[in-house]
Amino acid sequence: MTQRLTIRKPDDWHLHVRDNEMMRAALPYTARNFGRAILMPNLLPPVRTTAEGAAYRQRALVALPAGSTFTPLITCYLTDDTDPDDVERGFKEGVFTAVKLYPANATTNSAAGVTDYKLIERVLARMEKIDMRLLIHGEEVDPTVDVFDREAVFIERKLIPMTKQFPGLKIVLEHLSSKIGVEYIRSAGGQVGSSITPYHLQLNRTDWLGWGNRPYMYCMPVIKTEADRLALRDAATSGESCFFLGTDSAPHSVAKKLATTGAAGLFNAPVAIETYAQVFEEDGKLHNLEAFASLNGPKHYGLPPNEETITLEKVSWIAPEQVDVEGPEERALVYRGGESIPWRVVHEGQGG
Ligand code: DOR
Ligand code: ZN
Repeated sequence: MTQRLTIRKPDDWHLHVRDNEMMRAALPYTARNFGRAILMPNLLPPVRTTAEGAAYRQRALVALPAGSTFTPLITCYLTDDTDPDDVERGFKEGVFTAVKLYPANATTNSAAGVTDYKLIERVLARMEKIDMRLLIHGEEVDPTVDVFDREAVFIERKLIPMTKQFPGLKIVLEHLSSKIGVEYIRSAGGQVGSSITPYHLQLNRTDWLGWGNRPYMYCMPVIKTEADRLALRDAATSGESCFFLGTDSAPHSVAKKLATTGAAGLFNAPVAIETYAQVFEEDGKLHNLEAFASLNGPKHYGLPPNEETITLEKVSWIAPEQVDVEGPEERALVYRGGESIPWRVVHEGQGG
């Protein structure tokens, strides 16, 4: 008999779908398997105000397939000039679910991010007061810090002081990528949770660079050592409520990925929940998949879990190599494209 697993519908607590044509191409892959997703605000220009957030949400709703019950959750891109009153208004009106902090120049489209942590204190104090989540790209951008140490140094220099200054502020350290990060989150007493991507659970830096430079394994934070990967797998599959699903699926056109300075990001939404299921099965932890994918995230955000369910079955299928995009971006290649994926989601009219 085919092995099957039914879980509450998962949410993706970290997703890039971009805008316009790319959003129309990418969003349906998330909407078919997930109840909600946090849409990251690093557009050009970024989503910085309640008005911009409301407009972006509207464009996301229009990009959904007919009849979809998926809910896009919008985030506010924090800058040195963000107005605490506007953030509060956006949160209270239900436009913004959270605020995203990018250190300036840490990653794709982060040039407008935070340069001076003194300048954001008023916003953080207001968020602490109204119980709004702060999502952080936790990498130190001091150029003297090695790229493999950026997460650890950010925790030390920026995150720990911030948790002390704002002890009531609930934080997500996004896309956790290191053993040191895992140890820190476990010690943070619930104030800081972490999203974990499918690819940080599967890849190490030898996969990325050991057999030729593989631009489709290049992301920020960069893929690290085997010891880091194993620590992340142990964390994700443990069921501990501070670790939850966030794909960081980040489509880019082929031209941007293969440029002289290639863009960071892996487009994994078409294989995301299936890849997590594979990882949990490999580690004998399928019984913890629902906690990681569907329960821990809502708990950290103070939101109810989804009522609907999805069913996964152990039937292999071949991941699509690429997704076509209207207009000049043309296409985005898919993480694990062309590979055989051992789990699939049962959709209506399929399976039995
Ligand atoms: O690899 C990444 N891609 N990391 C990020 O932080 C941003 C993302 C993107 O927007 O492409
Ligand atoms: Zn991201």
